[in-house]
Amino acid sequence: MHVAQVRDWSEGPRYVTVDDPPAPSEDQIQLRVLAAGLHQIVRSRASGQHYSAGSLPHIVGIDCVGRDVATGKLYYCVNMQPGFGSFAELITVPKRVVHPLPEGVDPLSFAASVNPAMSSWLALTQRTSDLPKNYTVLILGATSASGRLAVPAAKALGAGKVIGVARNEASLAKIDGLDEFIVQKDAITDTDFSQLDCDVVLDYVYGDLALHVLSTLNVRRPLQYIAIGGLSRKEVAIPPALLRSRDITIRGCRAALSPGRLYKRKSRASCPLWRDGTCRALTVCP
Ligand SMILES: NC(=O)c1ccc[n+]([C@@H]2O[C@H](COP(=O)([O-])OP(=O)(O)OC[C@H]3O[C@@H](n4cnc5c(N)ncnc54)[C@H](OP(=O)(O)O)[C@@H]3O)[C@@H](O)[C@H]2O)c1
Repeated sequence: MHVAQVRDWSEGPRYVTVDDPPAPSEDQIQLRVLAAGLHQIVRSRASGQHYSAGSLPHIVGIDCVGRDVATGKLYYCVNMQPGFGSFAELITVPKRVVHPLPEGVDPLSFAASVNPAMSSWLALTQRTSDLPKNYTVLILGATSASGRLAVPAAKALGAGKVIGVARNEASLAKIDGLDEFIVQKDAITDTDFSQLDCDVVLDYVYGDLALHVLSTLNVRRPLQYIAIGGLSRKEVAIPPALLRSRDITIRGCRAALSPGRLYKRKSRASCPLWRDGTCRALTVCP
């Protein structure tokens, strides 16, 4: 079969022929892959830069939609174990990393959407506590796929107001459901957040933007900041005086929970992506 495989981090992935995976044992399932997501994390792992990239050779991809070779049933699979890659014609994986999907789900849209959609849902359901009624969410990097999907997720999870921050005004203006937006200036410190108070920051950018937001927001109530992405590709140091002077809780969140753990959670019913088995917020480019 064919896979996308990295043999040298500096060269990137190649389309290569490898042996078919072994037949599944009783605890495993073999899927024929229909669609696999080219998420930011997938690119980062394929270049050896992500903490979970593992060793070489590396097969690209962390998730996919595929059909059980034995029964023809449709499944979603997510797996970040070393040695696994979803950019393959066939995969043999433990049953605990797959979840059945209803027929009719568009494999391309679903595979593209799960990782970005789950990021905000998990952050809000697993990494916040005691949010007030009709809380306010500030999304940094709102024009990213994850940022756009965070808007309906936050609304479905009880947010009364969602504010987006991004560089591109035209793209921000097109995001459905945003109550307000702030355009990030070229010099980030020129962007004015001093009139803004919120309960939660969902951060897909990090770097100077995160530091500027945390330093200048008009924080009048407890602020829960969740680091989800690093689009700025920059690290910053948070001065301890900032932490002492404001009531800020800082946490991080990653999306790649196994389906088994995910589906057992009671709050799953509130996740817009899983409720109807598809997500229309992303444009899919096969
Ligand atoms: N932890 C998790 O669970 C999880 C899950 C999914 C994604 N992520 C992370 O979240 C981030 C977003 O992922 P994604 O797949 O949604 O991204 P994406 O759709 O590929 O987002 C790309 C967009 O981000 C904006 N952007 C890029 N660099 C930026 C910068 N320096 N400052 C502000 N905006 C910038 C650009 O929008 P404009 O051109 O409009 O400026 C760009 O079009 C990534 O870091 C990803 O690794 C984390």
